[in-house]
Amino acid sequence: MAEESEHKFWKTMPVPQTKEEISKQKGELVSGLEHKGIVPTEPSRLPAGFEWSDLNLSDLHGKDMTDLYEFLRDNYVSDEGNLRFDYSPETIHWVLFGPGSKSEYHIAVRLADSKKIVGFIGAIPAHIRVNDKSVFLVEINFLCVHISLRSKRLAPVLIKEARRRANVNRIFQAIYTAGIVVPTPIISPRFFHRLLQPKKCIKCGFAAVSSDDSEAAFTLRHELPRIFDNPLFTGTKYKDRFEVTLFIKKDQPEVQALTSKYLSQFKVAPDYSKKEFAHTYLPRDEVVYTYCVYDNEFEEIPKEDAKEEGEKEIEEEIAEMPVTKKCRKLVAMFSFYIVRSTVLKPPEEAKEDPSYNHIAVAYSQCICVDDSASVITKEIVMTKALYLARDKGCDVFNALTMSDHTLRFFKYLNFVPGDGILNYYLFNYSVGDEIQPKDVHVILI
Ligand SMILES: CC(C)(COP(=O)(O)OP(=O)(O)OC[C@H]1O[C@@H](n2cnc3c(N)ncnc32)[C@H](O)[C@@H]1OP(=O)(O)O)[C@@H](O)C(=O)NCCC(=O)NCCS
Repeated sequence: MAEESEHKFWKTMPVPQTKEEISKQKGELVSGLEHKGIVPTEPSRLPAGFEWSDLNLSDLHGKDMTDLYEFLRDNYVSDEGNLRFDYSPETIHWVLFGPGSKSEYHIAVRLADSKKIVGFIGAIPAHIRVNDKSVFLVEINFLCVHISLRSKRLAPVLIKEARRRANVNRIFQAIYTAGIVVPTPIISPRFFHRLLQPKKCIKCGFAAVSSDDSEAAFTLRHELPRIFDNPLFTGTKYKDRFEVTLFIKKDQPEVQALTSKYLSQFKVAPDYSKKEFAHTYLPRDEVVYTYCVYDNEFEEIPKEDAKEEGEKEIEEEIAEMPVTKKCRKLVAMFSFYIVRSTVLKPPEEAKEDPSYNHIAVAYSQCICVDDSASVITKEIVMTKALYLARDKGCDVFNALTMSDHTLRFFKYLNFVPGDGILNYYLFNYSVGDEIQPKDVHVILI
């Protein structure tokens, strides 16, 4: 235990070692300039019997993608006891192939003789704004070591290699998440779950009915919220006033502008380039879904600043205009992605119905509502997201207690707290203040 708390590896890395250090320092910890000319050009040597392998993952059905898919399916994070993530090749591809991706960032360790993958780490270039500075860094994802090789210090070797390759490309910062605590998390939000298929969740061991409860009562309590007064569903008094449409490329300028305005309230948030935004949010079947909410009868107030142009005629024209006029306006966007998990001990029902071998989970990626959307609220939008996710076959909707996802919000929508805490980290960068989960809006898949 004493050795564990020592953090033999992390104490040698440029990361704040304590919460106090986060408040004392701000920005880059080790200047990129210090690396000039000293970044090794070759990977570190692995023990005999192991070799580095850059994966070519561009072909979804190619050998490297199949090897990685199977390796992660059998060895990656197992959460909530009876489940292990089963990221599809399509989702792995989406996560690892953002703009600027390179096969040298898809780093595997293989056994030299059988060529079996026994370790992996992925790095994805991204722009993240920390306070008022846009930092070009890599997001670290899918760090994984084969179950039979755990606790042999292979993880630090993978992390150091990802760092070296980023440094070679003049990238000196990273952002990553982990279930475990190492030096030093910037925030540690908790997962909350909204059951969409409560019966299946009970059967698969994801939810438990307490001894003083009954399955029928439990299921009833977890029914989705009633929608008769939700304007995003048909049959309400708002008739066709609001429209929910899948996000398409043509709408990007408007959708990105709304999202960027929303993200500007957080201290740590993505600073998307056009390509990054399109990559993150454009829908992909069974991977990621993003929707736009339009108000067809939005009451637009003529802009005040038109008066400042000083032209007398314009002022007179404005004075004669009605105070408001109706137009179609984007008032909200929301996005979720889907990851399946294997049920490690499937219930009896799985013999008849193979869908019991998996739990499909939707993860909230972004929900933003324009300040001027008088009728639409975050709760209304999330309710729509819950229904859409259920229609797409999801059994659970997950979200983290961060950004503007408050406990009140979760309680209102009948989310229940999970066991999982996700710690967020910055490598070679300090935010300068002790920040709260409400200050951060970064979702790492
Ligand atoms: C995470 C994983 C790769 C770590 O490998 P391991 O064999 O348990 O650990 P190793 O002996 O190789 O390395 C231990 C060192 O890595 C650090 N480490 C372990 N997991 C880490 C993580 N997720 N992020 C950062 N550092 C981590 C440890 O803190 C320790 O360093 P320290 O001595 O400075 O504290 C492995 O447990 C695994 O594949 N787990 C399943 C997948 C998973 O959880 N991935 C992480 C996703 S968040």
